[in-house]
Amino acid sequence: MEIKPSTKMSIFSPAIFGDLKAAAERKKASGAQVYDLSLGSPDLPPDVIVRETLAERSQQANMYGYTLGGIPAFNKAVSDYYKRRSNVDLNPETEVLQTMGSQEGLVHLPLAFCNEGDVVLTTNPAYVAYETGIKLAGAEPYEMPLRAENAFLPALDDIPQDIVKRAKMLILNLPGNPVPAMPTEQFFTKVVQFAKKHNILVLHDAAYSEYYFTGDRPLSFLATDGAKDVGLEINSLSKSFSLAGARIAYIAGNEQMIRIMKELKSNLDYGTFQPIQEAAIVALNHAEEITDCLRKVFSKRHEIIMAGIKELGWEATPSKGGMFVWAKYPYEIDDKSFVFEAIDQVGVVMVPGSIFGSEGSGFVRIALVQDEHILQGAIEQLKKFNL
Ligand SMILES: Cc1ncc(COP(=O)(O)O)c(C=O)c1O
Repeated sequence: MEIKPSTKMSIFSPAIFGDLKAAAERKKASGAQVYDLSLGSPDLPPDVIVRETLAERSQQANMYGYTLGGIPAFNKAVSDYYKRRSNVDLNPETEVLQTMGSQEGLVHLPLAFCNEGDVVLTTNPAYVAYETGIKLAGAEPYEMPLRAENAFLPALDDIPQDIVKRAKMLILNLPGNPVPAMPTEQFFTKVVQFAKKHNILVLHDAAYSEYYFTGDRPLSFLATDGAKDVGLEINSLSKSFSLAGARIAYIAGNEQMIRIMKELKSNLDYGTFQPIQEAAIVALNHAEEITDCLRKVFSKRHEIIMAGIKELGWEATPSKGGMFVWAKYPYEIDDKSFVFEAIDQVGVVMVPGSIFGSEGSGFVRIALVQDEHILQGAIEQLKKFNL
């Protein structure tokens, strides 16, 4: 029997990470050291109190049932965290919703709010899950370029009027992946005005909200006046608390949107393993101490890579936060060929910029997910690259 994929399957492009991994394995098998700066999966372990909570709760016999929309104490911990961190008031019952990782939320949000033919405003480059969600909903992405001359923020005024009229949703991500741009109060204020004027729902992905280097915390979108009237913020414990494999995140903000998402999710899943939720509560309740260490480590790593980029003669705008360096290399070769050539020649694994959108051509994304010694080693290796 021949088994064929559905026509909808054509919207999914094959992920490049498998090919990068295979190339890295081949290099390793030849005896060479590999410097993997590709996946944005935190290398630091979760804090010991978080792991201990998970271990203890997992021993309890009553922890293995379905949790449906999650335990109320998790929503309360999210609400307390927002109050402490950003002075934002959230009703834990009606303005917070747990998701099984933010990817799950991101892919399903357009389905809950967009009809076929609606436009969703997104950026180029952008984290790839946005487009997946938009296309699954039958909506159409409109990509706003992110460029250095605009501090890598999208220019809302440049969107053509016919697109604005058809737009149902705007997706933003600051600090961003792959471009580590930072949010400003001025920009978020403009976003709220734009959304109100044109009736557009806003979704701000704050996955890297605890990755900042200068002492200035990235603003929460929900701290902007009127933000809750127009949208949501989605955040994850994957990056901030190194819980990427534990799959727990949340959506917070507009009550009506939360209600609609809750209804959709009640048809899709039965919730996250309770010990993970309990560990996440401990993480959120100790967020300040836990994430302080993360910032010190990533600031230093960012410095090392930025200094290395300069020595290499590559270009990259220094960032005030995020998990990545977005770098332009000086060789006359397309970014996909370049990353495989870099693995073959010098064992350094980076992600080609163009997988995040056409504006990423000629760039690579470098994830700061290795210790300083390995990052320095990667720079030394890249010095040996030639074309
Ligand atoms: C910007 C952004 N949002 C969301 C995610 C998804 O993270 P998770 O599903 O682990 O919460 C990622 C993961 O790399 C990301 O970079």
